[in-house]
Amino acid sequence: MFDIVPAAGSKPEAYGELARQLEGLLSGERDPIANTANAAALIWHLLPDLNWAGFYLMKGGELVLGPFQGKPACIRIPLGRGVCGTAAERRESVLVPDVHAFPGHIACDAASRSELVVPLLRGDRVFGVLDLDSPLAARFDEDDRRGCERLAEILVSMTDF
Ligand code: SME
Repeated sequence: MFDIVPAAGSKPEAYGELARQLEGLLSGERDPIANTANAAALIWHLLPDLNWAGFYLMKGGELVLGPFQGKPACIRIPLGRGVCGTAAERRESVLVPDVHAFPGHIACDAASRSELVVPLLRGDRVFGVLDLDSPLAARFDEDDRRGCERLAEILVSMTDF
């Protein structure tokens, strides 16, 4: 059994603790579905104010829905479309304080107000994206972006994508 420990302290400290728990959770397993599923569950339980947390994985040149927590979501996202497809195409994180102001945002859950999408990268290769949605406007900031980029690095380094 894996005990989820609520993170305390400043936001960067909380992300440090989340990163440590992710390493523990993934250690000894390199399967992409198992690791993205456990990562989504850990993030969902430890980050406050989320209504969706999960992954889209690159398959055949497009993003396909992977393991997640939250409401059922749209299944396939072409590169360059929506926040997810934009982050995957640019190979960089996209932080959207107000999804209604992002042209082309794909609404999966009408409750979503802000979003952070972080690509899963090894060098130039993109294996997919980590997508976090919040019902709060401007829920995500630079601490979240840095913290989630670190989580994505850990996931990629510990998984055979
Ligand atoms: N909003 C995303 C689509 C995925 S759902 O939020 C889970 C986008 O615009 O790419």
